[in-house]
Amino acid sequence: MDKKKRVGILISGRGSNMRSLIEAAKNPNFPAQIVVVISNRPKAAGLQTAQDEGIKNLAIDHRKYDNRTAFEEDLHQALVEAKVDLICNAGFLRLLTADFVDKWHDRQLNIHPSLLPSFKGLHTHQRVLEAGIKITGCTVHLVRTDMDAGPIIAQSAVCVEPGDDEERLSARVLAAEHLLYPHALELFASEKVIVKNERIELADQNLTQADNRSGPIFSPTLPLKQQL
Ligand code: GRF
Repeated sequence: MDKKKRVGILISGRGSNMRSLIEAAKNPNFPAQIVVVISNRPKAAGLQTAQDEGIKNLAIDHRKYDNRTAFEEDLHQALVEAKVDLICNAGFLRLLTADFVDKWHDRQLNIHPSLLPSFKGLHTHQRVLEAGIKITGCTVHLVRTDMDAGPIIAQSAVCVEPGDDEERLSARVLAAEHLLYPHALELFASEKVIVKNERIELADQNLTQADNRSGPIFSPTLPLKQQL
């Protein structure tokens, strides 16, 4: 395998997606290694998880900065110091300026708990339930200046089930996220997929669709016949 990509993970909270990436990267065949975890919140639970896993971790507290640019300069510096090739945002709750996003163009991934481009932004599951749609899911995409936009690397579908509330639905989507993010990072870090005209395409047209599967489709708990 070519040299593993060095990945920095940005978090703000519990870091369960971060954990799924750390676990996946333990596989010797995984094309990426997690070299640093950075949180903009010093109390983020994910920092302790990274510490327990022996991964370099640090807090860069955005509240200590007068402006976004100064915060992002330190963030950028820390990533450069760790010799990061790729950034994975995993529940990172700071909007990034165009300046930062451009510096990491095509090198920064994000996970969002909906099937983008639908339901960008916050309170996704609540809005999904209000809209009454029957299939939602999660998306891993490259970061662009527009929030939750950017070429889509992989998606996974999750059925909205009768009786779902925000808690139940978000738990099932989160379970899908934990499978999807390592899958998407594997595709991207191994360069099996590339960015072409702002879309993600298979690098080698001889690869089958299975090589670019979008993760599991989470089926409803009821067999289809019983739902009709
Ligand atoms: C996830 O649902 C992710 O899609 C969203 O924020 C949540 C973070 O959860 N961007 P965790 O910190 O990874 O547990």
